Amino acid sequence: MASSSFCILLFHALLLIQICNCREIFDKNPNRNDHNEENHIKVYGTKEVDDLDPALKVFFNVNDLYTGKKMPIYFAINDPSTTPRLLAREQADSIPFSSSNLPHLLEFLSLADDSPQAKAMELTLKQCELEPRADEMRFCATSLESMLDSTRGILGMVKLKTLTTKIHDLLDSNHTLLQEYTFLKEPLEVHVHDMVACHTMAYPYAVYYCHGQKGSNRAFEISLGGENGNRVDAIAVCHMNTSMWDPDHVAFRVLGGQPGTSPVCHFLPADNIVWIPSS
Ligand SMILES: *[C@@H]1O[C@H](CO)[C@@H](O)[C@H](O)[C@H]1NC(C)=O
Ligand SMILES: *[C@@H]1O[C@H](CO)[C@@H](O)[C@H](O)[C@H]1NC(C)=O
Repeated sequence: MASSSFCILLFHALLLIQICNCREIFDKNPNRNDHNEENHIKVYGTKEVDDLDPALKVFFNVNDLYTGKKMPIYFAINDPSTTPRLLAREQADSIPFSSSNLPHLLEFLSLADDSPQAKAMELTLKQCELEPRADEMRFCATSLESMLDSTRGILGMVKLKTLTTKIHDLLDSNHTLLQEYTFLKEPLEVHVHDMVACHTMAYPYAVYYCHGQKGSNRAFEISLGGENGNRVDAIAVCHMNTSMWDPDHVAFRVLGGQPGTSPVCHFLPADNIVWIPSS
């Protein structure tokens, strides 16, 4: 290997070591990609839906949007000590982000090719490299600046606003990841025509998989009261036109129904971001 490219790789490795304790992040969030309900790669493949997988308890039907609705919901907690850092654009752009560079990164992170961490990174890169579906726009962002640029590319040069799920009283309530919630009020629809939803992906630093579909999504703010006493102001998105979805999409396995005839709604974890034009 030429010494200059060696230096570049060494620099990346040092940067990665500086930005994360990768093992710890992955050990605490080993299934981060599985939790991504938008995952178009068949994570669940031919596997039967495991009813015991709590992370799938985020889907609901569009006719569930009423006061008093009760359902178990999974909300992961954002632990800053294990949440990968969002890099500055210059940093992010200096680290190769592609499947072809994965072997080098794994080598410098001392991760075995067949480790769960390596598999998660591979899946993230694969999803980011997928050709977009005809009916939606998608991109991956490794910095806030690139997320904003790409979002504006979809929504136009408008002022942007974010919608995020907020979990209240995390410290003094006994929040559990999965608990029964009641819809405390009539869900409030956020009337926007277009939006871009960004989901966190498993990677040593923050990577967002973002996608936007023109005109066929609805967003809701839903006040939830948990059986353990904690409150969540949740954001949910309903995909009204699922005609291009994979019939094997995990949402259909959870809710029943099929592409085209069944809208799919889901809650967003607290670390996801929905961008909308601010009017
Ligand atoms: C749903 O999306 C498909 C593919 O983009 C489109 O052909 C169809 O007209 C849409 N259906 C509705 C009701 O908008
Ligand atoms: C914790 O949960 C128990 C029941 O699950 C409840 O009785 C108690 O009030 C909760 N504590 C707080 C601080 O909400």
